[in-house]
Amino acid sequence: MNRIKQYFKAKRAKIYEKDYQFLLGFLNEKELEYFNKLPVYEKRHSLDVCYYLINKYGIEDQDLLKAALFHDIGKIKAKITLTKKVIGVILEKIPFLAKFLEKRIYFLKIYYNHPEYSTEICKEIGLNERVVDIVRHHHGRNPTDEDVIKLQEADKKN
Ligand SMILES: [Fe+2]
Ligand SMILES: [Fe+2]
Repeated sequence: MNRIKQYFKAKRAKIYEKDYQFLLGFLNEKELEYFNKLPVYEKRHSLDVCYYLINKYGIEDQDLLKAALFHDIGKIKAKITLTKKVIGVILEKIPFLAKFLEKRIYFLKIYYNHPEYSTEICKEIGLNERVVDIVRHHHGRNPTDEDVIKLQEADKKN
């Protein structure tokens, strides 16, 4: 999905009753508590990544599905509004400036390094090593792990 489409989708993002039912059936109390810390547009994104894996690949593997729900959880370390996210996305196109600013602006540091923070938080939640490993590599280049490849595809499309 291109970035502009992604922006408009995020702007109208909502969570529905059936999403809550799904989350309640799938997550334990602590996982739910952390998931709820995500802003609505990130909740929507994470759920859609998860549903994509279920619908396109018929994934039933709980580890991959939990990785889908928590891959961006590191972003809760800063309050990244949609506008701030847009700034992060645009700045990414100017790598030297992004590098310079990420050392000075906290939300950019979190945004650009979120896989690392997601990994940390997944451990804190008590998610297993496999989930942690998939999450750690969700923006990795040239992944060889089948689950990471599927997650990257689902992430891009949602
Ligand atoms: Fe991510
Ligand atoms: Fe993502």
